[in-house]
Amino acid sequence: MSISFKTVSAVLAGICLTSVAFQAEAQDRLRDASKGLFLVGTALPTRAFSDLITTDIVSQDFNRLTCENEMKFDATEPSEGNFRFEQGDTLVNFAEKYGMEVHGHTFLWHSQTPQWVFQNPNDGRPLRDVVLQRLENHIRALMTHWKGKIKTWDVCNECFEDNGSPRGFSPWRQAIGDDYMEQAFRIAAKVADELGEKDVLLAYNDFNMYKPGKVQAVVKMVNDFKAKGVRIDAIGMQAHWQSNDDPSIETIEAAFKAYAATGCKIIISEMDVNTRNGFRNSGRGLERDDSVQGNADSSADALAKRYGELFDLFVKYHKDIYAVTVWGLDDGTSWLRGGAPLLFSSTDPKTNERGITPKPCYYSVLESLKKGQAALKK
Ligand code: XIL
Repeated sequence: MSISFKTVSAVLAGICLTSVAFQAEAQDRLRDASKGLFLVGTALPTRAFSDLITTDIVSQDFNRLTCENEMKFDATEPSEGNFRFEQGDTLVNFAEKYGMEVHGHTFLWHSQTPQWVFQNPNDGRPLRDVVLQRLENHIRALMTHWKGKIKTWDVCNECFEDNGSPRGFSPWRQAIGDDYMEQAFRIAAKVADELGEKDVLLAYNDFNMYKPGKVQAVVKMVNDFKAKGVRIDAIGMQAHWQSNDDPSIETIEAAFKAYAATGCKIIISEMDVNTRNGFRNSGRGLERDDSVQGNADSSADALAKRYGELFDLFVKYHKDIYAVTVWGLDDGTSWLRGGAPLLFSSTDPKTNERGITPKPCYYSVLESLKKGQAALKK
């Protein structure tokens, strides 16, 4: 009798963690079911890669990965010119081993960026030039280190308010000026060209990307860039949403139409669907909001219905959508504590022991993908 590596690792995982990773044939996993539609991804912290149950599931269900924090500015360049790539490498190496694509997140963001980036060296150069040079050094270092290994990059993250005006708090905008996003995209495109990275997709990424004010502002920016010859290839919708009808399918669909009309690919980049009433899943985490009612709360079936409807919509727009990434694997490790927003629970409801277990919403997503795939074959 021959014993496969997978069997051994599942057995080992069972011994080490008193539970066995979820088992199902390839055709009943998200990775296979999504082929021909779009890539399916998840976001993980470095520690996830030392957990055999997590890695076993991730390698079978997903074909795309994002570092939850490890490629952000503070993690990769904590002080000027001092680059740290080890944690990102852990994810990139895993992705390579299992034939997955990697999403790079993110170059320019107001958050998780060290203070030194914006400090004035007072050496006679205008602060704008200094900060642009630092941004260029940063982008060049990361794109060079991960040349050929990262397919999509978030060049700018969260730069608009919901009503479409420029984000109020942005040290980048303050230091560089109103054209800071354009400059960031120009730099990323220049470096990509220098490195011969023709197929890399350069993206703008944000939350609440369904809100009409934001849709208008992003479409305007993209069209403006294109008119000026500034490369932008993809629009990332974070998709931190609610399990009730907020945002509605119609609202999301209207945003898809508007984004697709720019010629950019759409990336659903950070999906999680909050089930907790009285809390809003905003781009800043779960925030108290008494008006949020009608969520699924602990009703796994309502969440399954919502995930199914959302994926049916993604399938409908599969030609425009490059990838769908859920922001984490299991509820217990999600950044939205108490929101139970993901496709897997962290404990097995049957035994109450630790064991990453697919929730009903996992199966509704699987069904939606399978239906979509079957329609492609007709
Ligand atoms: C979150 C991570 O999940 C947390 O671990 C971290 O503490 C804060 O950032 N929008 C983004 C992501 O673009 O980078 C954020 O990730 C979630 C909101």
